[in-house]
Formats: sequence, C-alpha cells, structure tokens
Amino acid sequence: MRYKNIDKELFIRNRKRLLKELKENAVVVLNANDIMPTNSDGTMRFRQNSDLFYLTGVDQEETILVLCPDFHDKKYREVLFLRETSEMIATWEGHKLTKEEARAATGIETVLWLAEFPRLFNTMMVMGDVNHVYLNTNDHYRTDTVVDSRDARFIKHCQQKYPLHRYERLAPIMHTLRSIKSKYEIELMQQACDITEQAFRRILKFVKPGVHEYEIEAEFAHEFLRNQSRGFAYEPIIASGANSCVLHYIENSKPCRDGDVLLLDVGAEYANYNADMTRTIPVNGKFTKRQKEVYNAVLKVMREAMKLLQPGTVYFEYHKEVQQIMQAELIKLKLIDKTDIKNQNPERPLFMKYFMHGTGHQLGLDVHDVGNMYHKMQVGQVWTVEPGIYIKEEGLGVRIENNVVIQKSGVHDLMRNIPVEAEEIEDLMNRK
Ligand code: GLY
Ligand code: MN
Ligand code: MN
Repeated sequence: MRYKNIDKELFIRNRKRLLKELKENAVVVLNANDIMPTNSDGTMRFRQNSDLFYLTGVDQEETILVLCPDFHDKKYREVLFLRETSEMIATWEGHKLTKEEARAATGIETVLWLAEFPRLFNTMMVMGDVNHVYLNTNDHYRTDTVVDSRDARFIKHCQQKYPLHRYERLAPIMHTLRSIKSKYEIELMQQACDITEQAFRRILKFVKPGVHEYEIEAEFAHEFLRNQSRGFAYEPIIASGANSCVLHYIENSKPCRDGDVLLLDVGAEYANYNADMTRTIPVNGKFTKRQKEVYNAVLKVMREAMKLLQPGTVYFEYHKEVQQIMQAELIKLKLIDKTDIKNQNPERPLFMKYFMHGTGHQLGLDVHDVGNMYHKMQVGQVWTVEPGIYIKEEGLGVRIENNVVIQKSGVHDLMRNIPVEAEEIEDLMNRK
C-alpha cells in the first residue's frame, strides 16, 4: 500500500468492540466493495468497503470477513477469506496479499482462500447453531444508489438459500462504532489534514490572476500524491469568482480573475481516512474591504460554532443556533434587514438565501461519515464545521471549513495549523 502500515491493534480492537454488540449465537459477514465499471473494459480505482476496512485493514478486492464468535470450532470463529492469486494475476495486476501477510496485518489467525467460503459458511449456517445473521447494508441517510453492492447481492443470495434464519442489520452497530474515533484513527486523520495543509501552503504561493482553476487542482494533486495520499478525498471544488456561489462546482475550468475570491473545498485522503477543508482566498493576494468583511463574518461564525460543540450537543439543535449566529452577521453585513425578519416565512427564513446548507457532518473513513445525527455528540467524534455566505448578486461566496474532534470539554481542531486569518493568508500569498 502507498501509506505506512497501520498498527493492527486498531483492527483487533474494532472487532472486539463489534463482538460486544452482537446477540448470542451470531454470525457476521462483510464483503469487499466491487471494482466499479466505467465503459468498455474500464474500471474505477478500487475503494474498499469502509466497514470491512475498519474491521480488518485489508485494502484488497473480493475479501470477506466472517465472525462467528460462538462457533463450536474455535479455529473458525474469526475467518478472513482472500482472493487467491496466480501467476497470471501476478503478471497483470501485481502482488496480492499472502495468507501470512494478511495474518500479520489484521491479527486474524485463520486466513483462507475465497473458494473455501461457501462450504464453511454453509456449515456455520446449518450446524453452527446460528440464530442471528448480521449482514451489512449501506444505511447512510443520503444514499441514493441503484447499484447493488457485493453485500447487497450476498444478502439476496443468503435470504434465498436460508430463508428461515433470523437476519439482523449490521449497519446501525457499525455506525455507532465507527462514529467514535480511536487514537489510531485520529492520527491517520491528522495525517490527512497535514497533507492538506502542505498542499494549501503550496497553492498560496501559486495562485495569481490568470491561473486556471484546473492548474490549482493539479498543484493540490501533486502535493497530495508525493505525500503518500492516493489523492482527493472527494471531487475538489476550486471555484473562482461567481463559481464560489455554486456549492458543488467541480468543473474547475475557469481562469482566476484579478479582484475575485477563490473558494477551495479540497481534502486529502490518507490510508482511506479523509480531510475535508475549505478556504477562501483572494486571487490577487489582497481581499477587498467587502470581501474581508464577509470573510471575517464567516470566520466568526465558524469559531462561535466550534464553541457549541461538546459531548451532549445534538446536531440539529446546534445547527439552528449557528443559523441564528449567522443571521446576526448577515444583518451586520446589511444583507438582510432586522425588520423583515419579523415577517419572514418561518419555513423559509431570510438567512437561507445566503446560508443554505448544513453546518457540518461527521468525518472519517467516509467524507460524509456514518453516525446518527439525531443522537447526542460524543467524545471522539470528528465533525466538520463549515459555515458559508454566498452572495450571488456580488459573485462572492465564502466558506471556511475545519475538522474537529469532540473532547470532554470543547474540541481539538485537526486543522489548527492551516492558515485561516485573512491577514495570514494575504501575508503568505505575498511572500517572495
Ligand atoms: N466537501 C464536501 C463537504 O464539505 O461536505
Ligand atoms: Mn468540504
Ligand atoms: Mn464538509
């Protein structure tokens, strides 16, 4: 793998935490993601299923993890199935994990080739006294996919073959576990943030009027890749001028113009963990008075928002409070009028014209990470804090986004070292 080896204790610990949540006489099966097709014989780059990675650290296609903690034969209570390599696979695709390597990386003693899965799984299902079969679904609240994953196909197969077993949802358990990050995971996420910081500092020296948005994208990619990241955590948004008001602008095709701002929503991936940063900078190295007042309003809202994050905070209540803080700033900026607020439609408050998205989301193995947003925040969760003001009529959009860990009191900012003060950004852009 491109990234440094991860301490297997992370995965051993994660499996232990999962076992504690299971009913008696359970079996758990998790499948790798597919390598997704594009056109012709093309494929996308492989991206491991986040839950399988969380429990094993195996970053290889076609992998299966089976946990059957009460199985009679102790040897098979924890089994990893791997794609068996061949001379042909080695020639065309390169090295695949050996059983020894997988054992060392995951802490799982029993590693078998995939061909052995059907027989062993059948034995567990019919002779293992299994009462509860935990299978995995993608239960992210915004998922909208028409494609069946390997897990989804396995569920269909399983329910057809074993219709009278009792099936259980693994997803809510995985969401609860994954939403609390361990010290190993925080280190990996800090690494993703540090790589993002390095790239941001690089582009502060690079941006000037006339540079195209895609050239800036290339600078980010360069710095990410040379630091053992596999690239962007998500499609980067490199949006100058009026594009800064398009929330999901990913075309990144325009030249940056003198006097405009440039909104950068870009994060590095590292070892499957993600950073999610947004900074807004002046193309020519100096904010105009108006740009700076809007910028400082957003920065203030971000800082005030961070103060509200602590164990026990409920996202939707917090978001409402942030909207009120934002509303006060929008009044000061004369974008909305105090008297008009009294008559506004509560379903469509006036501030929504300028701040129409959420204040943040959980972050981890997925950029929009799993975890129930109705539940109280807990120590160890990582949240983005990302207020923005988008003034279409002025072609001026400003968003600032940091990633923070919830602690016993307050938060730990994983992006504390990434320049954010308007003056510091200007200063760095103007250094020779
Ligand atoms: N970059 C995606 C987001 O900020 O949620
Ligand atoms: Mn973002
Ligand atoms: Mn975000």
